Parts: sequence; C-alpha cells; structure tokens
Amino acid sequence: MAHRAANAPPPRYSDLPLPPYRYVAGSTPHPTRDPGGHSFGVERGTQPAFDPESWRSSQQYLRGVDLFNHAFWWEAHEALEDCWRAVGRRSETGLFLQGLIQIAAAHWKRRAGSKTAAARLCRTGVSKLRKTSGVRLGIDAAAFAAQVDACFASARATPARILLIEPAADPAWEGGRATGMLAAVPDSLASGPYSLTDPTVRAVLERLHGEAAGQKAALARFGLSMLTDRLLGRQPTPDREAARAKNLYLAISAKQGAFVYLVARSLGARRVVEFGTSFGISTLYLAAAVRDNGGGIVIGSELEPQKIAVARANLEEAGLADQVEIREGDACETLKHPGGPVDMALLDGWKDLYLPVLENLTPHLRTGAVVLGDNIFTFWKSLAPYRAHVRDESNGFQSVTLQLGDGTEYSVRL
Ligand SMILES: C[S@@+](CC[C@H](N)C(=O)[O-])C[C@H]1O[C@@H](n2cnc3c(N)ncnc32)[C@H](O)[C@@H]1O
Repeated sequence: MAHRAANAPPPRYSDLPLPPYRYVAGSTPHPTRDPGGHSFGVERGTQPAFDPESWRSSQQYLRGVDLFNHAFWWEAHEALEDCWRAVGRRSETGLFLQGLIQIAAAHWKRRAGSKTAAARLCRTGVSKLRKTSGVRLGIDAAAFAAQVDACFASARATPARILLIEPAADPAWEGGRATGMLAAVPDSLASGPYSLTDPTVRAVLERLHGEAAGQKAALARFGLSMLTDRLLGRQPTPDREAARAKNLYLAISAKQGAFVYLVARSLGARRVVEFGTSFGISTLYLAAAVRDNGGGIVIGSELEPQKIAVARANLEEAGLADQVEIREGDACETLKHPGGPVDMALLDGWKDLYLPVLENLTPHLRTGAVVLGDNIFTFWKSLAPYRAHVRDESNGFQSVTLQLGDGTEYSVRL
C-alpha cells in the first residue's frame, strides 16, 4: 500500500465530481428528498453488474471511495450501496462492501453525535472486513480494519481513509496518471504495421492523455454545472453544452483507445464514423487502425469549431491527418451521408443523440459492422432507449455492455 503523509489530501480515484455539500441530518438539505438537495432528481447510478475483478474501471466504486475519503459519509454509503446490490448482497464481495457501507454510516453517526450507534456500526462493519484475508477491491482488509478500529477508539482520531492498492505495472488500471498512459498498448507485434508504437503517434497520444488527466478540477466544475441545470429544471441546448465543454477533452482512456484500435483492426475497417471528436484522442486511435488496415477514412464530427482546429493539428502532428475528415456541426445532420458502407462507428457525443445518430447511420452499416457506445454506466438511464434499441434483434443489432472504461456498449449490425 502506498504511504502518504497523514495530512496529505486524499487521492482522487474517480473522474466524477464531489457534491457541493455534505449531508448532515438537520443541517443541510436531504440530498434526494429535498428539492434543494444536491442530488435531487439526479439519476441514481444503477449498474447492471459489478465485477469485483474489474473494480478499477468501476467509476461507481471509485466514486464511493472518493466520497468516503472526503468525508461525504452519507453519500459514500449510498454510492457503495449501488455496488453492493450489483455484486450480490450475500457474496463475499457483497459482505465486504456491506462492511465499508457500515463504516461510512458509523462515521456519519459519529459526526451527528450518536456515539452508541456509531460504535455498533463500526463493530459490525469491521467484523465483515475481517472475514477477508488479504486484499479485496484494492483494499488491504486487515490494515484498513485496524485503521478504523483506531479511529473509533479515540474521539479525536482523524477519520479512516481508503488507500487503494494500485499495481503500478497493471495495464488494466485506468486511474488517469499522466505517465505510463499507454501501458495498455503492447510494445511490439510479431509482424505487420502497428501505428500505436510509432514514436510520432505515441508521443502525441502520451501528451494528449496527460493533458486530459490534468483536467479533473475543470471536469468537476463541468459536472456541477450540469447538476445545477438539472436542479433548476434547465435543459441546455447541445450547442450550449458543447460551448461549456469547449476546453474539456472528455476523452476515452488509453485502454479504451487500444480496444477501439484493435476492433477496427479485426474488422479491417476502412470507413469509420465517429460521433463526438473533441480534441481527437479517439480519432487518433481510429485513424491509426485505418492506416494500418491499408488506408481509408475516419469521418469525425464536432460542434465546437475550436476543438476541430486543435484536433486537426493533433492529427497532423501524428502524421494521421490524411486518414481523417472532421465534419463541423450537428452530427445528426453531418453524419447522414458517410459516402459508402461503414465498417465501424464510435458514439461519444451527447448521450440523448446516440439513438438518432445511429438511426441515420444504420442504412450505411455493413453486415458485421461494430458500433461502440461510450459512458453506458454514468448515463445508464438516459441511454436506456439506446441500449434497448441495440439489444432488439428486430432492429438489426445484437449487443453487450463491456466493463471497459465507463461501460462500453459493443453492438454488431446483423
Ligand atoms: C465526450 S467528448 C468526445 C471525446 C472524444 N471521442 C475522445 O475520446 O477524445 C464529446 C464531444 O462531442 C461533441 N458533441 C456533442 N454533441 C454533438 C453533436 N450533436 N454533433 C457533433 N458533436 C457533438 C462535444 O462538443 C464534445 O466535444
């Protein structure tokens, strides 16, 4: 486990913003029941399943840990409860999560002055953690249980903190560090072209992933402004939303990028369509694959003209600009005519438009084409109609949700 100074700020593990206030019964509005609550009317992050092996890519779990570490006890308890339900309450991981939930609740009770309830919850929570030997969900169970015990033994002790064990060399880790971003990309293939190890392409991707990882604070502000709109019942137009995100990458991770590249390679994709180009991180992976497949075109789309200019410069710098055309304007219009049969599509723009964009593209998708949809877990409810559509064979698709990034929908045109 990494050691940090006791007064160092806790690390952040998820990309999701923290709420604007902590819920304290009787002092701050109830988050979900009070119309002024910080999560009133916000979609609860229900996830279909929580694979304990893939905890590093579960934003919901990582957010629960972040909330815990930043003393959002009630909020942490809620977030971890979603994971608990999804993993199965009586499973070993379920009991472990229940222990964490009870410890969060114990802190909440202690802050409210309910010492007896806090001590009881702490005891039952810790006893559940101690049923695990070793590390579970990135937590050293015995060490954390001891920390919690020490914290509740003294009224003045600082609250417990969860330090997740991050295997530095594990390519599955997507914690968003600026270095080693391309760990998911193998260094060499036995033969054949593989542009992701081209030093020029690699250097651009390293730089862009690093810049994207440095945007956590701006991302949190963006998340909060979306939340505020929702609370005030405002529905910003796609253009306003795009203007607000005009400096934000909002990009896929390096691991998703490697996956996108490999899917395009296995399809031999020559014509790929992308909804939501931003500064071109995903476009670089797609263009690299198309070049390695022998050449073709990636048709990108973006509302924000400044982003298009920067994306073009990035593609130029990587030597991949010849494989890309970025169409400016609303993708619902600009992607209607892709100019030939489409082998693959990546949907990563605003979520309520995935379905209309897909419907426009469907007549152009060749049999066996793959459509990838990003951010399935964060926007579980808004993307429900999209998921239902691609899971209905009568619409010409079959689909699964992959535990990749923030949930990646993998759909095949039948
Ligand atoms: C999540 S970001 C895309 C990130 C990019 N795929 C990557 O991985 O680097 C979404 C982008 O979609 C753009 N966008 C949203 N709605 C759009 C629309 N209707 N037409 C074109 N672009 C849109 C936004 O401006 C934003 O830059």
